[in-house]
Amino acid sequence: MAQQTDSAGSGSEAFGQRFGVAFVGSGSAKLETVLTNEQLAKVVDTSDEWIATRTGIRQRHIANPGDSIRSLGGEAAANAIAQANLTPTDVDLIILATSTPDDLFGSACQIQHEIGASRAIAFDITAACSGFVFALVTASQFIRTGAYKTVVVVGADLLSRLTDWSDRRTCVLFGDGAGAIVLQRSESSDNLLSFEMHSDGTLNDCLNASYQHESTPLTENVTVQKGSFNPVTMNGREVYRFAVNRVPEVLEKSLFHANLTVDDIDWLILHQANQRILDAVAKRLKISSDRVVSNMAEHGNTDAASIPIALDEWVRSGKIKTGDVLALSGFGAGLSWGAAILKWGK
Ligand code: ACO
Repeated sequence: MAQQTDSAGSGSEAFGQRFGVAFVGSGSAKLETVLTNEQLAKVVDTSDEWIATRTGIRQRHIANPGDSIRSLGGEAAANAIAQANLTPTDVDLIILATSTPDDLFGSACQIQHEIGASRAIAFDITAACSGFVFALVTASQFIRTGAYKTVVVVGADLLSRLTDWSDRRTCVLFGDGAGAIVLQRSESSDNLLSFEMHSDGTLNDCLNASYQHESTPLTENVTVQKGSFNPVTMNGREVYRFAVNRVPEVLEKSLFHANLTVDDIDWLILHQANQRILDAVAKRLKISSDRVVSNMAEHGNTDAASIPIALDEWVRSGKIKTGDVLALSGFGAGLSWGAAILKWGK
């Protein structure tokens, strides 16, 4: 199995690989509170018609004041572990993809405590809307090398925390949510068929929630930075252009590395940014819309949570079955983008 990868961004054949990866469970958190487009139209100058036509979004879920990344991420993780017929103490590693942690030092350890995964190592990954795919790939490397057997990857974001509720260009897009999957060592097959990951920091200004500070003198020769994080700002047109170009490209490359074609994909699960992006990618790949997973109308864009929530909904409704080939692609701030082609189940 040990062969060199053929490009910096791809991972069709992992160097040093000893074991395979199986995808054995999914889960998500239930957020009761809904914010509809009509309700938003009372907050900013917009309409259900404008939002639905441009984005496909009809409503989004918003965390209650008592909710947190810890509680919602924990709920998603616990549901995924239960679906995999495991217990929290079976888990060796928890990787949390989030841009909105409860604690800037990381919330993965809080989730570890929340679910009682007392043996697990836990850490956060920040890669915005690419975060879940990047975390899934990271988790797979630990399994392939034999370091860990059971890994939970959580994607959880409360983007309502970073939303400027007076900016109609962005506030209509986002929602809160959490989803998770369980990966396990397999000695018989490797169900992560390929992956690609990319970053382009030259486009960072297109989409960010940057730290803004004032320089505050502390002593004669030391000045410290005092400030806080800005809400999300976005150049919507640039991000749209980026997504519809890069996402089909990264999926085509991943399929090539997996020795598959578009016809082999059972389900295309893209980051749920915008229905128009999903439609444009599907059109370019020539994949029929009935194989494109979309829950945008109900959830909006939930950042790192969007792919695992969609995946879990399709698994629990019986649409995704064991052995189905899934093509996942995350893309967003960084800018960053990536894809993973995998076979669901053991
Ligand atoms: N309601 C009503 N009017 C609006 C709204 C709104 N919510 N938002 C913007 N407008 C107005 C603008 O003010 C502008 O009016 P003006 O011409 O009088 O100034 C007009 O609509 C057009 O504004 P644009 O920003 O150019 O709108 P656009 O057609 O580009 O659509 C959108 C905006 C939907 C965000 C689009 O750019 C897009 O799909 N971008 C992709 C980015 C994306 O999906 N980001 C998600 C987050 S990032 C990620 O997850 C990857």
